[in-house]
Amino acid sequence: MKRALGVCYYPEHWPRGAWEGDARRMAEAGLSWVRIGEFAWSRLEPAPGELDFEWLDEAIGILGAAGLKVVLGTPTATPPRWMLDRHPGMLAVDAQGRPRGFGSRRHYCFSHEGYRAECARIAGLLAERYGRSPHVAAWQTDNEYGCHATTLSYSDAARSAFREWLRRRHGGDVAALNAAWGNVFWSMEYGGFEQIDLPNLTVTEPNPAHVLDFRRFSSDQVASFNRLQVEAIRAHSDAPIAHNYMGGETGFDHYDVGGDLDIAAWDNYPLGFLQDRVRGGAAHMRRYARQGDPDFQAFHHDLYREVGRGRWWVMEQQPGPVNWAPFNPAPLPGMVRLWTWEAFAHGAEAVCYFRWRQAPMAQEQMHAGLLRPDGAPAPALAEAERVARELADSPQAQAGPSEAALVFDYEADWMWSAKPHGRGLAYFDLILDSYRALRRLGLSVDVVGPESDFSGRRLIVLPGLMHISAQTRAALSESGAVKVAGPRSGACTGSYWIQDPMPPAIDGLDATVARVETLREDLPVPLEAGGEIRGWREMLEGGAETIERTASGEAAAVASGQWIYLAGWFDSTAMLRVLKGACAQAGVATLDMPEGLRRRDAGAETFWFNHTDEAIRFDGREFPPVSVTRIARA
Ligand code: GAL
Repeated sequence: MKRALGVCYYPEHWPRGAWEGDARRMAEAGLSWVRIGEFAWSRLEPAPGELDFEWLDEAIGILGAAGLKVVLGTPTATPPRWMLDRHPGMLAVDAQGRPRGFGSRRHYCFSHEGYRAECARIAGLLAERYGRSPHVAAWQTDNEYGCHATTLSYSDAARSAFREWLRRRHGGDVAALNAAWGNVFWSMEYGGFEQIDLPNLTVTEPNPAHVLDFRRFSSDQVASFNRLQVEAIRAHSDAPIAHNYMGGETGFDHYDVGGDLDIAAWDNYPLGFLQDRVRGGAAHMRRYARQGDPDFQAFHHDLYREVGRGRWWVMEQQPGPVNWAPFNPAPLPGMVRLWTWEAFAHGAEAVCYFRWRQAPMAQEQMHAGLLRPDGAPAPALAEAERVARELADSPQAQAGPSEAALVFDYEADWMWSAKPHGRGLAYFDLILDSYRALRRLGLSVDVVGPESDFSGRRLIVLPGLMHISAQTRAALSESGAVKVAGPRSGACTGSYWIQDPMPPAIDGLDATVARVETLREDLPVPLEAGGEIRGWREMLEGGAETIERTASGEAAAVASGQWIYLAGWFDSTAMLRVLKGACAQAGVATLDMPEGLRRRDAGAETFWFNHTDEAIRFDGREFPPVSVTRIARA
């Protein structure tokens, strides 16, 4: 697939007379894709059943005539006001029991049958009309599932659907559910599925097994909601279907949703993410305020490549200041180009900027576009045009497979968040710390799910994978890779009980987690060889060889054969040391990359990205500030 650029456009926001000029300027800028339609329901159907598709026919015709390929979005993230009158029970309800009202977007509950039917209907109508259009070359379902914390809903619709889901999962036998959840504890036993509520508004914390099943259910609701639209579209169109996922969003299992789609796309806002999704400390935030975290975007590129089974895009790329972060700085000159090339280096087929022209009205009026509200170029336009020129001689999209795999599991995130056992301990951060360390060692990484095929890997890192299924255990022990597990890997059964035999219960690794403790931020445990354990710590028993000790001589990491187990959350110094040792054992070459410089192998090229505002000398080369360097691989 040839690498390409695109843009998000809202013809319904602009006078009809502007569309031709916009389309022409997009094509002149070197863009080939334009995504439209995803919030346009009130214009497509101003009143129930009163359809108005003519303006969209015209917009698609104009964009297509300019040579652009259209990604058509279904408008289901923005149900119009009349929808509430038709389906008063469709609003999502928050954990405090309050309905989430009209006046912004995503105000729907994934479980509401009436709203689901409306979504399948509008997706089907669009597909019927545009499924064979020569200009509609891809689809997008809805917009950012989970955005604004919308995966979990505590509505009546969700409660009924949850009870049915539980009935199916537990074989129609409430005694089996009671046994699986351990409901004898605190007399929480149920006499029938109809007695079971959602796990909110309890006096103190609900049973983690109850929470875990609710998280699984809520994830399944997103997947089946999406599937309804996919089926409606596929009935009339052969064009590939995508969804635009988010950064740092773990509310539903993306591998599941991705299984029904052709392309995984995601929305990349590095400067916003740095402030509200990266745990980094003040100095890190300041250093990268105008560049974004050097690893957060790359992690998602690698994750969504797996979610899309190789096919993935950036559907929305930050072009300048956004409107929604605590502070909204402008990127350093060159960063929009760097972000774009970084996505291509990780295998993206397309990068689309959000948005074409800055909107002068409503919630996002302070959000930059490629153009200013008056239509004059904003700084990002020239950078996009430059990438478009550079793409002319660039090879096809490609990435991987890599020798190193990092296992990322949505269910593990739900398990950690149900019982973090200490303030601020989040699985996602542990994964990002591990990913960052692998990249500091110069590795290209594949992020994979727990059910991935591990053959061909030399190094598999699976921190915090709380439940390791029998299938995954078997696949891991068959793999010849060096495996780095812990902390908390293999801690629980699938029903959220402490594992018996005691964790991690890994065949061939004589180590048992005898006790765990969590640590105040100002109470880290220093390690003998430097660095420290922070936040989460385990005390081990067993005969495996100790490879890391605390300063007071206790085992902090052990190894046996191809397994290494970390008995705690290692800081970056310690994590780098252990992973470097694991790479040496696995025969994976490493580098000691300087701060802010990252590299990625992509087919015939290696890309180097300098995320800092200073030149870096490394490995006999000079990398200018904020730069992309492409080097042919030997
Ligand atoms: C995304 C969303 C877009 C727009 C953008 C602003 O989360 O999909 O519709 O709101 O953020 O940065």
